[in-house]
Amino acid sequence: MSITNKITVQIEEFANEDLSYVSDEEVKESTFEIFTNTATQEFYCQRFLERTLLDYTMAGHPSIARWVINSIKVDDSENDTHFLFVSSGEVTLKSNNGEFLLRENSFAAVPGNFSLDGSGKVLVATLLNYTGLFTIGGPIESRGRLNYIDGCSSTVLINPLRRGEPCLNFLYVPPGISQTPHTHPSLRIGLVASGSGTCKVDEGTFEMEAGTVFCLPENKLHSFSAIDNSLSIIIYHPDSDVGPTNDSHTMLNNTFVGKKSAKVLDAIRTR
Ligand SMILES: [Fe+2]
Repeated sequence: MSITNKITVQIEEFANEDLSYVSDEEVKESTFEIFTNTATQEFYCQRFLERTLLDYTMAGHPSIARWVINSIKVDDSENDTHFLFVSSGEVTLKSNNGEFLLRENSFAAVPGNFSLDGSGKVLVATLLNYTGLFTIGGPIESRGRLNYIDGCSSTVLINPLRRGEPCLNFLYVPPGISQTPHTHPSLRIGLVASGSGTCKVDEGTFEMEAGTVFCLPENKLHSFSAIDNSLSIIIYHPDSDVGPTNDSHTMLNNTFVGKKSAKVLDAIRTR
């Protein structure tokens, strides 16, 4: 039995327990089984049926994927930022920024410690040692706003605050579309928000439907396909190749002294 299989069995056994009477402290201590780092080069794809934690802290951009059902309390994460998406139901988010009700198909960026409590399923993708900006948005729209590949479209739900920083994306694959096989230079953590289809990788073809969760290691060749239905996916990116920089951002570029942009006025640019 491989390490992955062994741990999956442990998770399934845990999923059979009735979790509704577990105290906050017990949830914190016992909710998650941890995949070892040896699993990071495999494509992970599962129905969202149990609470799971995947450890990608050894990846190029140290991250943790959690699939949360109903509740979680994270109190050892002051220096990290969490990207959330509510797959179903609704949960109350508590953090240093206050208390908010998150409904189905809403998303958030939460720096620091937080808790969720309610009746719902939530994707939580965490980037370690990164301080994001507290954000709540949603619901997602039916299609993406940006042209992507092969007829697919996408929307940046949470933008990188600076070039290189993490973001949360929405991907829409129209019915009948199969993507050209491709790779990404960093980890992807995702969840199918609605629709159905497949993801083809070298291990095989995985069925995807609403609630399916996945982790795609960096540089993993893959292709999403939507067959009869469309496929709508939420994807965490730990890094970005676009976004504002100290040398180029909208407030700076569109500040003019006479006819010159402050972008080229070294005498007044903040250093
Ligand atoms: Fe992709």
